[in-house]
Amino acid sequence: MEIIAIANQKGGVGKTTTAVNLTASLAAKRKNVLLIDLDPQGNATSGTGVDKNELELTIADALLDGVSLADIIVTSPAGFDVIGANRDLAGMDITLMSKTDSHELFKNAMEALVKSQADNNAPAYDYVIIDCAPSLNLLTINALVATDGIIIPMQCEYYALEGLADLSQTIERLTELNPKLYIRGVVRTLFDSRNTLARDVSTELEAHFGDTMYKTRIPRNIRLAEAPAHGMPVTAYERWSKGARAYHKLAAEVMKQSS
Ligand SMILES: Nc1ncnc2c1ncn2[C@@H]1O[C@H](COP(=O)(O)OP(=O)(O)O)[C@@H](O)[C@H]1O
Ligand SMILES: [Mg+2]
Repeated sequence: MEIIAIANQKGGVGKTTTAVNLTASLAAKRKNVLLIDLDPQGNATSGTGVDKNELELTIADALLDGVSLADIIVTSPAGFDVIGANRDLAGMDITLMSKTDSHELFKNAMEALVKSQADNNAPAYDYVIIDCAPSLNLLTINALVATDGIIIPMQCEYYALEGLADLSQTIERLTELNPKLYIRGVVRTLFDSRNTLARDVSTELEAHFGDTMYKTRIPRNIRLAEAPAHGMPVTAYERWSKGARAYHKLAAEVMKQSS
């Protein structure tokens, strides 16, 4: 089982879009995948067709009350397993902070899930994809303590280059809590190849990240923005769209890293 956190402290860079559509593309390639929403906005949850306001249990119940993750998993209309989030997760930072091991709650919950699956002879997940909130709060730290690899979605604009130093500093600090933490890959999102600045920034990012940069660039594609309104990954909503094809290619690259 490989855990992958989709993280970037910036908002609106395509984290949730990547989490949902990468998961859907991996599932389409017959991988057993679990998507975990760790953002109180619950966009990844609703993006799979799960009604976040109707959820009986969310990831908040696991972190606060120790409810086992196995009891929180739902099969989404998109066809893969989801652990959802909603407003119940908002403001939890402060409550969690008072707990001992507050940064390891999620990791411990994941380890218990793996053990219970093994005990019940249930098929293990090939991939667990975590959608993080756009901040380095305790929830995100919990995700980065539990994961091995991070996938960082980046928009090719000037600020992406400015944020690079912050990013490596953050990851460096977190390796104290999780020595296994590494950048699995950086993915260029919302990409517009006709934009000169985007092309220049893209080249600079390639130079900076080298092999850590995925070759697949996710284009700016209206179908990707429309799909969540229909509660579907783009791969189901418009399977031949540029957006869907790009995420299938990205999933192939991610799988290649596993072998
Ligand atoms: N490649 C894309 N093409 C068009 N719209 C996109 C694309 N990626 C994301 N979006 C839209 O941009 C907005 C921000 O994306 P989102 O995935 O929610 O970012 P984040 O989770 O990083 O805040 C959303 O409205 C989403 O539908
Ligand atoms: Mg998001």
